[in-house]
Amino acid sequence: MNGPEPRHVSVLPAEVLTLLAPAPGQVFVDATVGAGGHARLLAEQLGPTGKLIGLDQDAAMLALAKPRLEGLNVSLFHANFDRLGDVLDEMGIATVDGVLADLGVCSDQLDLADRGLSFQQDGPLDMRLDTSEGEPVSDLLQRIGERELADLIYQYGEERFSRRIARRIVEVRRTTPLETTQQLADVVRRCVPWPKGRRHAIDPATRTFQALRIAVNDELGALERLLKQLPQRVKPGGRAALISFHSLEDRLVKHAFAVRTVWEVLTRKPIQAEEPEVERNSRARSAKLRAARRRMDDSENDE
Ligand SMILES: C[S@@+](CC[C@H](N)C(=O)[O-])C[C@H]1O[C@@H](n2cnc3c(N)ncnc32)[C@H](O)[C@@H]1O
Repeated sequence: MNGPEPRHVSVLPAEVLTLLAPAPGQVFVDATVGAGGHARLLAEQLGPTGKLIGLDQDAAMLALAKPRLEGLNVSLFHANFDRLGDVLDEMGIATVDGVLADLGVCSDQLDLADRGLSFQQDGPLDMRLDTSEGEPVSDLLQRIGERELADLIYQYGEERFSRRIARRIVEVRRTTPLETTQQLADVVRRCVPWPKGRRHAIDPATRTFQALRIAVNDELGALERLLKQLPQRVKPGGRAALISFHSLEDRLVKHAFAVRTVWEVLTRKPIQAEEPEVERNSRARSAKLRAARRRMDDSENDE
């Protein structure tokens, strides 16, 4: 394997394999290749006669994953997963045996200071996963109304102090545009008290950063558009698995799989990581894995 070893550790790897059950000769999609961990596990099972189609909206992650996937039958595409149908059409593939989406960001993306995803290092306040389109957070914060900003931080960040943070951001931007991660982190930290007596308390800026990342990348919109395409793109008997890190994402997945004429749910409750995995990989703590099998009868239009 050439190139730098990714820092990202894949969550729930054994559970993903069990639920998706990839077999030699099958065609799978990894809609979020990231550091290539799950992609490698899947492609190894699919073997030389099978194929893994990998998507990521971040070209830097595809470059990082590529050396890890060498020698395996994998085709990588720089694309948002809401374009799943277009990518498959381009390849002349109507349906696949399985789809995985492991949502959110990789640890390696947080390390790229120029993305502005992390408050732990200073960088431009951008947060776009695909820097070739969309609006950086600095622009969003310059134009958005106080009320809308507060709602966004509350909804996507589940942040109790959202009103206070939004008010302060609007005050600050009157004199100083917010252009760096440290500027924003400082503003938020002044509005939110650090939890007392907790040794490993999370930084008060965490929730606001998450909310703004979800907003500029339209993460929930993209997920909805992906979920809408799955019934047409997963073949009868095929499987889909999604790992979410936010209650709003998990709710969308749960509702999509609840269409009984289309899906047979394989996880009555979402699968969560056991304590030993969480100890090795703290990111696994909030992961929720749901999987479903596409029903054999083609009656989704009856819904
Ligand atoms: C949690 S990481 C995936 C890690 C991967 N499963 C592994 O084992 O290394 C999520 C990845 O999905 C990508 N991503 C997030 N939303 C996306 C979207 N809408 N379309 C395509 N890629 C997306 C991110 O850029 C990131 O690289």
